[in-house]
Amino acid sequence: MNILKNILYLLPAAVLCVGCTAKEVPSTETGAGVHAEDQVDENLIVVGVSQVGAESDWRNAHTESIKSALTSENGFYLIFEDAQQKQENQIKAVRNFILQEVDYIVLAPIVETGWDAVLQEAKDAGIPVILDDRLADVDEDLYTCWLGTNAEKEGEDAGHWLEDYLKDSGRDQETVKMVTLQGTLGATAQIGRTNGFSKVLKEHDNWEMLEMMDGDFTQAKGQEVMEELLKKYEEIDVVICENDNMAFGAVDAIKAAGRTCGPEGEITIISFDAVRAAFDAMIAGDINVAFECNPLHGPKLAEILKTLSEGGKVDKIQYMEEKYFDMTMDLESIRETRAY
Ligand code: AHR
Repeated sequence: MNILKNILYLLPAAVLCVGCTAKEVPSTETGAGVHAEDQVDENLIVVGVSQVGAESDWRNAHTESIKSALTSENGFYLIFEDAQQKQENQIKAVRNFILQEVDYIVLAPIVETGWDAVLQEAKDAGIPVILDDRLADVDEDLYTCWLGTNAEKEGEDAGHWLEDYLKDSGRDQETVKMVTLQGTLGATAQIGRTNGFSKVLKEHDNWEMLEMMDGDFTQAKGQEVMEELLKKYEEIDVVICENDNMAFGAVDAIKAAGRTCGPEGEITIISFDAVRAAFDAMIAGDINVAFECNPLHGPKLAEILKTLSEGGKVDKIQYMEEKYFDMTMDLESIRETRAY
């Protein structure tokens, strides 16, 4: 017979009977992921995941990967909370996970700052925290490990790609005017990509960064910001979009303004993520290059959680493997092999 754990959502303080033992569970305040009361197989690893939101194709693939890895068939009981791009919702979710006495907390922090208090609470409650995708600027002993992307390297790689591209097209001595559509300010992916690209930018006196604006990693904001930049600057040679969805918005804005982009157009578009729709845009000739940010964290997260629950040790920092894709490659064939 299975021994059961009780997990309670949105109920007032209650005394639950588990077999013959009673467990008091305080009320929770979150509105997301509501269930009345669930009985959980004691053998399952209970994991509370606080996701940023659903702002991009990348994020949806990331969510899907986590949900399909942390299943009961794989030995997990998943409590998934979508914070709708608000840090306060993530903080609430983490506090609820603590009240629910989950075994592990997985947090994808929307921005790097502001986590000290809540992660200290998780530590005091003895619940290990795994940071996923983005980092939190906290003392290292407040989290067990971090799994994510090397965003600074992605930004630097993008800068080197542009160097080569301009050289190959005989434009390396010309003045190159560029703008950046940044991701959510203060997010690891934004900080890393901006800093990485800036390193290469500094090496080129003829590269002029006209302006960097926050596009919040969404298509709508990317389009809005690009419209503004096109009105403000007559000449823009390169647009660096810190994710694919902002690139899609930028392409729409450029076309609506009667301008052209991509390998045959006047404006070079550099993007990050390399989701399937970015392959479509590269094949259509709208985007020049996409630097991969791999969202398929689920299997690796499952492995980390299993290792920890068996008393094993894991590396503190774990990077996903990533490549880049541009129009010099057989994009149609590669697209067929893409999982997201
Ligand atoms: O943190 C990863 C970034 O977040 C992805 O590049 C972006 O698409 C997502 O919203």
